[in-house]
Amino acid sequence: MIIFITGTPGTGKTTVSHLLKKQLPCRLVDINQLVEDENLYTGLDEERGYKIVDINSLCTFLQDVIHLKEPHVNDPHIVVEGHLSHLCPGADVVIVLRTNPHILEDRLKAKGFKESKIRENLEAEALDMCTYEAYQKYKDQTQEIDTTSKSPQEIVATILEVINGQKSYPVGGIDFSEYLLE
Ligand SMILES: Nc1ncnc2c1ncn2[C@@H]1O[C@H](COP(=O)(O)OP(=O)(O)OP(=O)(O)O)[C@@H](O)[C@H]1O
Ligand SMILES: [Mg+2]
Repeated sequence: MIIFITGTPGTGKTTVSHLLKKQLPCRLVDINQLVEDENLYTGLDEERGYKIVDINSLCTFLQDVIHLKEPHVNDPHIVVEGHLSHLCPGADVVIVLRTNPHILEDRLKAKGFKESKIRENLEAEALDMCTYEAYQKYKDQTQEIDTTSKSPQEIVATILEVINGQKSYPVGGIDFSEYLLE
């Protein structure tokens, strides 16, 4: 199974994916790393101060990476993690990690994000942006997990339930819109 893990920055994708890999025989693909390694940028957003990812090239590269067959690699699953993963084709299931914006704020501060970038990301989380985009592409193959009061280990257990078909967390059950009214 090919599993994409997406979500607003700071929702725990990297933390959870590394923990998941210990319990699921899988190849782990880090989208941020792929973008860096292959220099998949179209330019620089001078105002915001960050590089603009070339989504088309990313999608093409990701397809190659997913379908790469190495003789010594025989993992039944591929986990692709990164906040742009859901914009690319190829997943059997897309898991959107969600976190209450109030909690997310401290994590983005700790990551050293600029104030404007923090606000942008918190608003995106409150507006279900990743879920909305994922759902547009993947419809009912999209699942969303509220991580707010879960430990990384609990999130992994929830993801394993989804992969094994024991539980389903369809889009629409999470609402952080109150954050926008405060
Ligand atoms: N469920 C959780 N409970 C508490 N802290 C968490 C949880 N998940 C992640 N964290 C912490 O939040 C921070 C951000 O996590 P992480 O780097 O995994 O997020 P990310 O989604 O990969 O972000 P990015 O998109 O920027 O790569 C880390 O310090 C991590 O330890
Ligand atoms: Mg990460």
